[in-house]
Amino acid sequence: MGYGIKSYVLRAGRMSDAQRRSYETLAEGFIVPFAPEPVDLRRIFGNENPVTLEIGFGMGIATAMIAEDNPQKNYLGVEVHRPGIGRLLWEIEKRSVSNIRIIEYDAVEVLEKMIKPSSLAAFHIFFPDPWPKKRHHKRRLITRPFTDMLAEKLCPGGYVSMVTDWADYGDWALAELGATAGLKNRYAGFAEKQSWRPETKFERKGLLKQHEVRELFFVKEE
Ligand SMILES: C[S@@+](CC[C@H](N)C(=O)[O-])C[C@H]1O[C@@H](n2cnc3c(N)ncnc32)[C@H](O)[C@@H]1O
Repeated sequence: MGYGIKSYVLRAGRMSDAQRRSYETLAEGFIVPFAPEPVDLRRIFGNENPVTLEIGFGMGIATAMIAEDNPQKNYLGVEVHRPGIGRLLWEIEKRSVSNIRIIEYDAVEVLEKMIKPSSLAAFHIFFPDPWPKKRHHKRRLITRPFTDMLAEKLCPGGYVSMVTDWADYGDWALAELGATAGLKNRYAGFAEKQSWRPETKFERKGLLKQHEVRELFFVKEE
């Protein structure tokens, strides 16, 4: 089924020497190549622990911190920006975490082709590109029918945690997730700040610009 969302533009972004070194030495152990067929999550992590998929981890520092805090869970980060992937690999080595794997590819296709229904414990989507101009709204990730696919891939009781510093994207996402069959808002509207979630780089940038952060938390019905 093609979802037809092109939610990113590949930024050129130079890799630092450290990011390049981490990429060259650690990619083999932690990057799972894209393939248009279901991936065996137990095989890539080497255990049966629940898997959270993060879309667009950026520099991945929050990803590494969350994984370090939760060694009994697995984290699959999907990102297209190679310098960020190098940075997350560097964090993985620095923190000696073994519960992260990375797919360097468009998350829309990864979900469509590689992830089986009811196989994920959670989605983390922190500060997705806001695409503020009206003519770009179609590039927003948190839009049906893409959100229907999020619901389909979650196991019962699994959750979607999304945060944005664009008020209008927050309102949009609340409506789209609210209208997604199988998902239920854990809160009456926006969620409270989730204590387990560290501040991300884009969050810091948004707060410096006095943006208001809107947090959403939806759960897959049992
Ligand atoms: C605004 S940044 C936020 C990064 C990070 N989560 C943070 O809060 O600092 C959005 C990130 O999502 C990535 N991204 C956007 N669409 C994507 C897609 N379809 N698949 C994978 N990554 C994507 C971009 O490359 C970018 O790094």
